[in-house]
Amino acid sequence: MEVALILLAAGKGTRMQSDLPKVLHTVAQAPLLEHAMASGATLSPSRIVVVAGHGADLVRDAAQDFDEEAQVVVQEEQLGTAHAVAQAREALADFDGTAIVLYGDTPFVQPETLEAMCAALTDSDVVVLGFEAADPGRYGRLVVQGDSLERIVEFKDASDQERDITLCNSGVIACKSDVLFTLIDAVGNDNASGEYYLTDIIGIARARGLKATAVSCDEAETIGVNSRADLAAADAAFQTRTRAAMLENGVTLMAPETVYFARDTYVGRDTVIEPNVVFGPGVTIETGATIRAFSHLEGCHVARGGIIGPYARLRPGTELSEDVRIGNFVEVKNAQIAEGAKINHLSYIGDATIGAKTNIGAGTITCNYDGVMKHHTHIGSNVFIGSNTMLVAPVHIGNGAMTGSGSVITSDVEADALALARAPQVEKPGMARKLFEILKAKKAKQQRGS
Ligand code: UD1
Ligand code: MG
Repeated sequence: MEVALILLAAGKGTRMQSDLPKVLHTVAQAPLLEHAMASGATLSPSRIVVVAGHGADLVRDAAQDFDEEAQVVVQEEQLGTAHAVAQAREALADFDGTAIVLYGDTPFVQPETLEAMCAALTDSDVVVLGFEAADPGRYGRLVVQGDSLERIVEFKDASDQERDITLCNSGVIACKSDVLFTLIDAVGNDNASGEYYLTDIIGIARARGLKATAVSCDEAETIGVNSRADLAAADAAFQTRTRAAMLENGVTLMAPETVYFARDTYVGRDTVIEPNVVFGPGVTIETGATIRAFSHLEGCHVARGGIIGPYARLRPGTELSEDVRIGNFVEVKNAQIAEGAKINHLSYIGDATIGAKTNIGAGTITCNYDGVMKHHTHIGSNVFIGSNTMLVAPVHIGNGAMTGSGSVITSDVEADALALARAPQVEKPGMARKLFEILKAKKAKQQRGS
């Protein structure tokens, strides 16, 4: 059965105290919406419809960054969750399959849970994801009889007896798409909030003799984000879970609680991560690498055996082949570096390709930006770049070439050549001593005068 995801993301998130729509606030360096889309993506949906409202253009960009085929529909006024889902009707008019409703502000619903819901749908018309709440608070309550879900009652509308129920509504619903929209047609807004409640479709389905069931998950999967404190707590929960998974998969974390992972960080087994390492989005690290303390990585790939840091910064577009070494205070951006190359100290390498076994001396800079445009530096294999070389791009250094320390290289260097581009040394015998005497005399005169 084909799957369509409907993500509700129109809410403003007043309690975030923010100009940014709530679903664009990030956990583990990815918008909340992306987390929700990523968990739904494991069902290989053929359609994704995001219902946006506040900041719809920004929400559209984020949704399409994650999946360019995602459709975004706008709910102009937030009249309730059923009204929100109804906005997806047109986008799914020609869709015949299972619709799954997810909330954009609920990042951690696990793929297995969604699979269990799809499985339950084979002998049910509507499946709702519930959870046993430690503190049921203001959640909607699931009214279950035997294995049938009879209805969902919102906290505001619930009797005291119903409020005693601890099985709560997560908001995630699976239903055949045409059935879902038919049920939504019958939802009214005669309730304590004056909203069109999606939760009403259960009672309506039962009254029509349809079958509804609840599937349960761990409460941790259903945590929603409503405030900055929730956001921080969600991030902490993500980090705790990810560190444990990394350890489980054979990654050594010397001080797990100090390593910050992004949603999509991939690390191969037998890689060692030292304390205080931060991962931004889009990092993949193969097996047997070492990421030393205080390094910051984003949008990069580190192949087997790489040694990075301490205090290294790898920025987007960095591709390191096997056994590359990037040392302290080295920044690399948009650069492909071949196996065994070394950039060990205090360098900036941007918009460059570097060949195998090349050694880049301390303090080398690729001068890639002329103030208007960026230019490329190509350095061949087995090259030796002397310390403090400025490589003024565009420039090409042939295989096996060398540059003298302190050179400012502005034109291409052919293979096996030595390029020196610095003022020749001048030596004046006895001049230093004379200079000292003059300067000391001057200072003494000044002190007498004051
Ligand atoms: C909802 C459920 C409740 C459940 C709880 C779980 C309903 C009526 N109630 O309540 O049973 O226990 O979630 O967290 O569904 N949204 C829109 N457009 C709207 C209204 C909401 O896009 O017009 C989005 C919000 O941005 C949010 C989600 O839908 O992502 C849920 O809305 P919210 O107002 O938080 O619902 P709750 O009152 O928490
Ligand atoms: Mg809510």
